[in-house]
Amino acid sequence: MFTSVVLVAAGKGERLGLGVPKAEAVIGGKTLFEHALQTIKAFDPAQLVVVAPASLVENYRQIATGFSFQSLEVVAGGETRQDSVSNGLSKATGELVLVHDAARAFMPSEVFTSVTKALTGYDCVIPALPVTDTLKSVADGEVSGTVDRSTTVRSQTPQGFKTAALRAALTQTNSNFTDEAALMESQGFKVGTVLGSELGLKVTTPQDLEWAKLRFGIARTGIGTDAHRFSEAGTLTLGCISWPEHLALEGHSDGDSVAHAIVDSLLGAAGLGDIGSNFGVDRPEYSGAAGKVFIKGALELIKQAGLEVVNVSVQVIADKPKIGPRRGELEAALSELVGAPVSVLATTTDGLGFLADARGVAAVATALLRERS
Ligand code: CTP
Ligand code: MG
Repeated sequence: MFTSVVLVAAGKGERLGLGVPKAEAVIGGKTLFEHALQTIKAFDPAQLVVVAPASLVENYRQIATGFSFQSLEVVAGGETRQDSVSNGLSKATGELVLVHDAARAFMPSEVFTSVTKALTGYDCVIPALPVTDTLKSVADGEVSGTVDRSTTVRSQTPQGFKTAALRAALTQTNSNFTDEAALMESQGFKVGTVLGSELGLKVTTPQDLEWAKLRFGIARTGIGTDAHRFSEAGTLTLGCISWPEHLALEGHSDGDSVAHAIVDSLLGAAGLGDIGSNFGVDRPEYSGAAGKVFIKGALELIKQAGLEVVNVSVQVIADKPKIGPRRGELEAALSELVGAPVSVLATTTDGLGFLADARGVAAVATALLRERS
C-alpha cells in the first residue's frame, strides 16, 4: 500500500536548551534532522512530508531534496506537536501514514517496516518497548504505590495509521495529545503494538544528547611526532616533568618533544592543524614556553570544537633518559594535565640513527577524541 511518512521536526527543543530547534542538534557531524532523513530513506516511503520550523522550511527542503525521496513535501509546523502533525497530514497522500519524531533520529528502518506490516490488522500501530525498571506512582515526592509493569510499555515512533482514520480523529477532537495514538485511543480505536528499538531513543534533555553522542557520535584519532636535540646547558623537562640529571633539549620552546608530540596528536585528531600552525615561531608569547602551555592550549581548542579526549598513548624514542623508573610519575602528571589516561612507552633505536648516540629525544603520540555535549 502507498505509505507516507510525516516527519515532525518543528519543535523548539526547550528542554534540550541549545537555543536552536532540536532537529538542529549535531551528532557525528550531522543534525538530528539529517540522521532522521537517512533512516527514513532506508525505509524508502512512497512520500515524505517534512514538518519544519517555520524559519527553516526552505533550508529543510534543500537538505531533504538531497536524499532523493520518491516524493517530497515540506511544510511549516504549528504551535503544538498535534498542530504540526495536522499540517503534515494535510499534504500526505498515502493510504497509510507513519508519523515520526525527528527527535528519534536513530530509529532503525526495520521498525518502520514492521509498523507498516502490522497496519493490516489495525487503524493504529505503535512501536513499544518493555519496561525493565520497577514503576512507582508518586505524589508530593512520596511513593503511593507500585505499578504493575507487566501491563505497561514505553511508546515510541513511528506511529502508523490508516490515514483516513487519523484525519477523522484529528477533526473530531478539541483536546491536545502528546501523541496521536493517545488521540486514537480516546476515540475508541484499537491500537496495535510491534517491538520498538532502544536505538530509537528520544533526544529530549541534555543527558539524552550526551547518551546519543556516546552511542552515535564520531571518534577521531590523531598522530603526532617530534624530536629535539640535547643542548649544552639547562635542565631537561620531558613529558612536563623535570629530569635534573639530564641536559635540556633545544627548541623555540622548552624542547619537550613528548609534550609536543601529544599536542600534535590532539590537534591532528581534531583536524585543527598542528603545533606550528597554532602556536608557531611567529608568536613571541610561545618562545621558551613550557610543554604544558601548548597542551593546555590544544585542549582549549578541542573543547571549543565540541570534542574531548578519550586517551593518549605516547612512545619516547631515546637512549636517555631511561623512562622505566619514572613511568608511573610521568603517566600520572600527563594524565592529570590532559584530563584523560595518558600511557607512556619507551624504546631505543638499536644503535641506529641520530637517537642511538643519545643526541636527542624523539616521541610519537596517538590521541583518541570523542564528541562532548
Ligand atoms: N514537534 C513539532 N512541532 C511542535 C512540537 C514538537 O514538530 N510544535 C516535534 C519535535 O520536533 C519532535 C517531536 O515533535 O521531533 C517530539 O516533540 P518533543 O520531543 O517535545 O520536541 P520539542 O517540542 O522540540 O521539545 P521541547 O518540548 O523540549 O520544547
Ligand atoms: Mg515538545
